[in-house]
Amino acid sequence: MSYLTQDQIDAYHRDGFLMLPGFATDGDCAALMAQAGRLVDGFDAGAHASIFSTVDQQKTSDDYFTSSGNQIRFFFEEEAFDQAGRLRQEKHLSINKIGHAMHDRDPVFDRFSRDARLGAITRDIGMEKPLLMQSMYIFKQPRIGGEVVCHQDSTFLYTDPMSVVGLWFAVQDATLDNGCMWALPGGHKDGLKKCFNRTDTGGVGMEVLDASPWPDCTPENGYVPLEAKRGTLILLHGLLPHLSGPNRSDHSRHAYTIHVVDGACDYPASNWLQRPTHDPARGFA
Ligand code: FE2
Repeated sequence: MSYLTQDQIDAYHRDGFLMLPGFATDGDCAALMAQAGRLVDGFDAGAHASIFSTVDQQKTSDDYFTSSGNQIRFFFEEEAFDQAGRLRQEKHLSINKIGHAMHDRDPVFDRFSRDARLGAITRDIGMEKPLLMQSMYIFKQPRIGGEVVCHQDSTFLYTDPMSVVGLWFAVQDATLDNGCMWALPGGHKDGLKKCFNRTDTGGVGMEVLDASPWPDCTPENGYVPLEAKRGTLILLHGLLPHLSGPNRSDHSRHAYTIHVVDGACDYPASNWLQRPTHDPARGFA
């Protein structure tokens, strides 16, 4: 079974991304939102404060993060706490994301993530043996939703040869106002700049492969905003440079992402995300 047209496949390989409006229904999106809310209900915020930050990667290098590859765990917005260490707004409005195996550990996300159309799409763009390796529910909270600086997803998840593709679902409308993504079309052809590795001591660290900075995010430099209506699926090539600004609006910008790798490629032990041998990454079937 194939899902994409040849024009769509060509556009994905040319631009490094492809937008598929209306992929998920309003009902699907409402079900994901409700389930994410239930997961947060069950999370003891005080016991597991772990701040997620793309600005200072050191903050993520704790066991709670590095052992989350086959679990459901919760990561706060960087600005969630006041100087006294208290949450500025209630728990549901303070969490940056849930990760990293919702697709395996939660029945609602499992069902959504293993839609046969997604298996077809990943094979259409060239994967031999697509495996669901990572999933995240991203809240981009009103007022405190943090920026995500320009990056390539393969920095955080890579295979040899490169095969990572992100499946990004707009659970709510993503607009210029609430921090939609921006991307640099064609930028996936320029190679990987950084690699986020496990270190010998069990921590994580960033290896710089190419220290040249990304161009500033302006339309003049070729960046395009990926505004997306609820239900839109955006395919993102693992090497595509993309980012999103902070959310200073009063509206959240929920998104769900799955990262798929080709099981036909080597998955190095230096990836931060490692699955236990008794609980390996599985495909769409
Ligand atoms: Fe990303």
